Amino acid sequence: MPAWLKDAIFYEIYPQSFYDSNGDGIGDINGITQKLDYVKSLGFNAIWLNPCFLSPFMDAGYDVADYKAVAPRYGTNEDLYNLFSEAHKRGMHVILDLVPGHTSDEHDWFVNSKTAEGSEHNDTYIWTKSVWDRPEGFSWVAGLAERDGSYLINFFNSQPALNYGFADVTDPSWQMPYTHPICQANFDRMLDVMRFWLDRGCDGFRVDMADSLVKNDRGKRATASLWHKARRMLDKDYPEAVLVSEWCNANRAINLAGFHCDFVLCHPGTINQLGFRNKVDGENKSYFCKTAHQSAEHMLERYLNDYQVSKGNGYMSIISGNHDNERISWTLDESELRLAYTFIFTMPGVPFMYYGDEIGMKYLPQKSKEGGYHRTGSRTPMQWDKNAINLGFSTADVLELYLDVDRSENAPTVSEQIDDPDSLLNFVRSLTQLRHDNEDLQADAEFEVLVCDLSGVLCYRRGNLAVAINPTAVTQMMHMNIGEKIFEVGFATNQGQIALLEPQTAVVFKLK
Ligand code: NOJ
Repeated sequence: MPAWLKDAIFYEIYPQSFYDSNGDGIGDINGITQKLDYVKSLGFNAIWLNPCFLSPFMDAGYDVADYKAVAPRYGTNEDLYNLFSEAHKRGMHVILDLVPGHTSDEHDWFVNSKTAEGSEHNDTYIWTKSVWDRPEGFSWVAGLAERDGSYLINFFNSQPALNYGFADVTDPSWQMPYTHPICQANFDRMLDVMRFWLDRGCDGFRVDMADSLVKNDRGKRATASLWHKARRMLDKDYPEAVLVSEWCNANRAINLAGFHCDFVLCHPGTINQLGFRNKVDGENKSYFCKTAHQSAEHMLERYLNDYQVSKGNGYMSIISGNHDNERISWTLDESELRLAYTFIFTMPGVPFMYYGDEIGMKYLPQKSKEGGYHRTGSRTPMQWDKNAINLGFSTADVLELYLDVDRSENAPTVSEQIDDPDSLLNFVRSLTQLRHDNEDLQADAEFEVLVCDLSGVLCYRRGNLAVAINPTAVTQMMHMNIGEKIFEVGFATNQGQIALLEPQTAVVFKLK
């Protein structure tokens, strides 16, 4: 387990929307490098970069056309190597997005695979025997290739699934067992991609749809066996590199497959859904919403189970949001955000924050861009400077922008918040500082729920510290002496052995 994860706090950067350093209307790698000091100054010591590889961008780059080449619109491979080295100079780590389940249909492997003649990449993807086969239970595309066959896809039609075989072969005429040397060799090609970037300074990978590799793999054991191969490679040759899974099942991802971290995604029953973005028929039922007034029990149930089973083997990663979900400010107002962020940065595991959430950027529903659909509203350019053209994201003409910035009057910006001690940005900074300063708040320090009742109050212990949160709109009592406070949002007082937590209050205190 790489030791640096203990105190890692990640910042997710969507490269097209972060900072445009050359004025062509789209964010780029050099723009990220130029903003490293900003990211670092907020207390983030690690970055997750969304896909930045050659791609036709039918799915924002999750349709990779060349795993080893940076997309020209973002710069060059050298720019990315430079980003790694500048990050390392600042004591920061950078992980890339690995998309192992599928490629773009423009990837050379697929272009070769879809030709009629038996090709080198005949079995790199999953083809049925004939174009008239319509395999039930799978997503497939028929009739677009010269080759007589339908191919399985993983996500959009432009994302053919790579062939890692089947755990349960139900039709041997076109399905290979996952143990087949060709399927294993297909995964070895991914290992080669990983080596390529690790050898050039990358610190690990966030793995897209990590559970999607082997088909008909109900218990995910076959898929996990592939990831074990990856983990063995890292343990042996790159012991400081990390693997973070997009899986949302800690038992499978961490215990079975060997990932170092697994994301808590916005799936039913997760913190990300019940705690941060639970709108039901227009009503906000998110735990951190002041009017929701409910016990945290429901929100924590799935998490606690996953935490218990994976404890000691890896970390769960709570994230404020990502490029696939509505921004957290869609459901939580600023005072609610402060409580949610206090929670994110004081819970066990490795926390992540999505770019722009530190200033409360808004979710802006709009026309789909590059396969974003409803997700486009969370992918708008970073808002750097209130008084600069395009809010400081780019100097390009408005019409040249790949995606417009938030033009609303009250669009939050870094420039307005950076020097304001009471701003959300500086609040985030104080939280990351608190976590860095207190080992008890870091990834593997003890964690235990102390209070979780119908009052809505949640209190949990982290080592010799405790965190108490009252998200409701009324003052709540907690049967505990809050002793010496080391961090406070809102206001909390002791009355003998009882603590009074004012509405929307969170407090971190030392246990006696
Ligand atoms: C999950 C990614 O986060 C999402 O953006 C993408 O569209 C799909 N995987 C397909 O790769």
